[in-house]
Amino acid sequence: MSIAVIYGSTTGSTAEIAASIASALGADCLNVAEVSADKLAGYDALVLGSSTWGAGDLQDDWEANIGALECANLAGKKAAVFGTGDSLGFADTFCDALARLRDAAVAAGATMVGAGAVEGYDGVASRVFENGQFIGLPLDVSNQPELTDARVAAWVEKLKGELA
Ligand SMILES: Cc1cc2nc3c(=O)[nH]c(=O)nc-3n(C[C@H](O)[C@H](O)[C@H](O)COP(=O)(O)O)c2cc1C
Repeated sequence: MSIAVIYGSTTGSTAEIAASIASALGADCLNVAEVSADKLAGYDALVLGSSTWGAGDLQDDWEANIGALECANLAGKKAAVFGTGDSLGFADTFCDALARLRDAAVAAGATMVGAGAVEGYDGVASRVFENGQFIGLPLDVSNQPELTDARVAAWVEKLKGELA
């Protein structure tokens, strides 16, 4: 199965995690600024990562190129979302960009995987938390950096099962 991790990152946090997820999955790792709809549609599965800016907005490169995802034909493909944010400074919009990515992937025909529980985010009520679970993997590298490696490792294992 061909998998690509596609990321947008302004200060490097999400890029670093994208590289680690790609390495663990044996996936390609691409900056969203460099992808087209055809390129995305050439993979069996996409792992989509963005940090959140403004008040719940996509990272700038994603904002500029979200059309590549929206216009890709992802029927029959799987997709998952992850990203970094600040759960203390932006509790109401913590990792909201993941919901934007999810909405675009679903509109393109993808089936979402990678949703579930993530321990340690009591009280988060942003769009990343839906129907009692997280829609992907939200990471708070600003306030909980010590939890990141274990969260990523657990999510990658879950993805391996759900992408198989
Ligand atoms: C001006 C500004 C606005 C931000 N807005 C949000 C936000 O709405 N939600 C959130 O979860 N994080 C927010 N953040 C935190 C960033 O998403 C976080 O620092 C992230 O790790 C940056 O990742 P990157 O280096 O991959 O771009 C904001 C940070 C700044 C400086």
